[in-house]
Order: sequence, then C-alpha cells, then structure tokens
Amino acid sequence: MGYPTHRLRRLRRSRGMRRLVREAHVGVSDLIAPMFLCDGENQRQEIDAMPGVFRYSVDVAVEEAQLLHELRIPAVLLFGVPPDERKDKTGKEAWAADGLVQQATRAIKKAVPELVLIADTCFCEYTDHGHCGVLNTTREVLNDRTLENLAKTAVSQAKAGADIIAPSAMMDGQVTAIRKGLDKQGFEDTAIMSYAAKYSSAFYGPFREAAQSSPAFGNRRQYQMDCHNVREALHEVKLDVEEGADIIMVKPALAYLDIVRAVREAVPNPVAAYSVSGEYAMVKAAAQNGWLDEKATATEIVTALKRAGADLIITYWAKDLAEWLASEPAGGRPLDAPGRKPAGKAGGGRRRGRKGN
Ligand code: PBG
Repeated sequence: MGYPTHRLRRLRRSRGMRRLVREAHVGVSDLIAPMFLCDGENQRQEIDAMPGVFRYSVDVAVEEAQLLHELRIPAVLLFGVPPDERKDKTGKEAWAADGLVQQATRAIKKAVPELVLIADTCFCEYTDHGHCGVLNTTREVLNDRTLENLAKTAVSQAKAGADIIAPSAMMDGQVTAIRKGLDKQGFEDTAIMSYAAKYSSAFYGPFREAAQSSPAFGNRRQYQMDCHNVREALHEVKLDVEEGADIIMVKPALAYLDIVRAVREAVPNPVAAYSVSGEYAMVKAAAQNGWLDEKATATEIVTALKRAGADLIITYWAKDLAEWLASEPAGGRPLDAPGRKPAGKAGGGRRRGRKGN
C-alpha cells in the first residue's frame, strides 16, 4: 500500500537499458566540422579563444579533411581568412577564383571526393571594414548591391566544386539571388543551406578572432536578428524555404533551442543548428579550470540540440565527438553509476553510437 506502481527508474538501471529507450541520438553522420583557411604552407595556427581549433593552410586543410573523412564525418564548412592586404571595401576576394575557399574546395574535392564541402558565403572576412556587405556613405550595409556579390561568390564556390552554398550575410532575398545566379551558370544541382535564423549574438566573439572579421565600427544589428524574437525567425525561415533553400540553419544553438524546435515544426527541410564559437569557448575555459568535464558537457549540448529537433549539427567538437562516439561502450552492466569507468572496448564497445542503435 502506498508503493508506486509506476517506477520510471526501472528503465534507467543500466547503460544498456538506457540506450534501449533513448529518444534522441547523436550520430557521427549528423556532424559538420567548421574549418578556417589561411595563406601559406604547413600552417596550423591555433586560435587563442578556441583551444583545439586552428586556421589551416590549404595543404594542411587537405590532410585534416582526410582525417575527418576517416572519422566518418560527412561534411565540412569552409571559411576563408585572407590577410588584411587582400581585404577591400566590397570584399571581392570572396569571389576570387584563387581565393582560399576556392583553392581548398578544389584540393579537398580531389583528395577526398566523398566529403561534402559547404562554403560559407559572406563578406565579413573579406571586407576591410568587417561588415557583411557593401556600405553606403552613411555606413549602412546595402542589401541589393550585396546580393549581386553573394551570387558571384556562390558561383565561384560552385565552380570550384562546393556541394552546398551557405549564405550567412543576412541580406533580404539572398537565397533567391544565389539560386538564380547558380542556375544561370548551370549549377542547378548545387544545394543551399541558408543561415535563415541568424541572431546578432555575443556568442560569436571567439569566431571573430578566428576569422579576423570583427566590424571596424558599429555592430551587425541592422542585418542579424534580435534575440528577443521568435516569430521573426519563423518569418525568415518561411521566406528562405520559398526562395529555394534546401537546408535551414539556426544560429547560435545552445541559447536558441526554442527556435530550433519551432523551426523543426514549421518546415519539412533538414534543420541545422550551429553551435557557435562562444558555446565552445565557454566550455573549454571552464574545463581548463577543472570546473566542467568537457566531454560530458559537449555531449550533453549536442544531445540537447538533437532533442530540440536539429538534424544536423555544426560544431567545433565534431572531431572529438566522432572519436568519442566511436569508442562509446555498448554496456549492459546493471547499476552503471555515473563516475564509474566506462566499460572499455570489449564486447560491442566499438559501436559508433549512430541513429537506431
Ligand atoms: C559571418 C559568420 C559569423 C559566424 C559564422 N559566419 C560571425 C558573425 O556574424 O559575426 C559565427 C560562427 C561562430 O561564432 O562560431 N560570416
């Protein structure tokens, strides 16, 4: 009498039991690894605020891509970081045939043809003022002039072999402009992953160091979204889908799980969540102080993104996650208390932790 009939703890008693009843799964096939590219040869420049993340010269980027492919990561997202002397008012380096993204795309495509190559399409890394487009005399970013340049950039990236174009400039009509530009040049099969709901965010801080793309004045609030809004995100997403976006992205991710969920329910397209530089840096810094367990925290974050409805996850932990997932023990031991050593590699320990396990 008085004892519970429903004991939800029954299904939590062992690792095997918990695996059996899991609702959300993170698999290595969900992951997209961002990659920063710089000039030179044999360059591997670590980013201060993002320990473990580097800017690579193209030759090293090819080796790195090979490694990611061997770890079964399906895709990389490429960012070019040219030196200051190749930056100008319009950011024309973005569509240079021998630009960093174009060079790396050609080289990686040749060496690792199966890897899906996604090109970030924006100008903040290429303009001398650090804004995401062309400015007028009162220093506002001109939407329609920037659209022409986005289309040119997308075509040059597609020519180099990019599989997916990922516009992140937050210009109105950018998906239409890029789709038309691509189709006109015979690239109707090149996909578009639009940064549809991209918020103006403090979480981008470390990226701006990585990409040397901080705005020289002002901020990006006139084109990126205001963090107070959710209906507006759905409006952006709806327009991008109508304009022909194939994949929809929400960014940042961790503080925007409600947006991920709302977008997942609003459209049939695959939804990508971009776990941004600040999310990575916070955990890294805390882990370096011994205040957080990096692996457990990172795993929990990406699991939350899947649970919220993300299909794809862009994350600076992609490589670590691929390794962690590959060594995840199957485990059937009862009472596998937290803090105990994992079961190791024996007996199914080599499972990849993919969907459906
Ligand atoms: C802009 C761009 C940004 C990020 C990706 N693309 C930054 C910005 O808008 O300032 C941020 C990514 C991150 O923080 O990890 N092209």
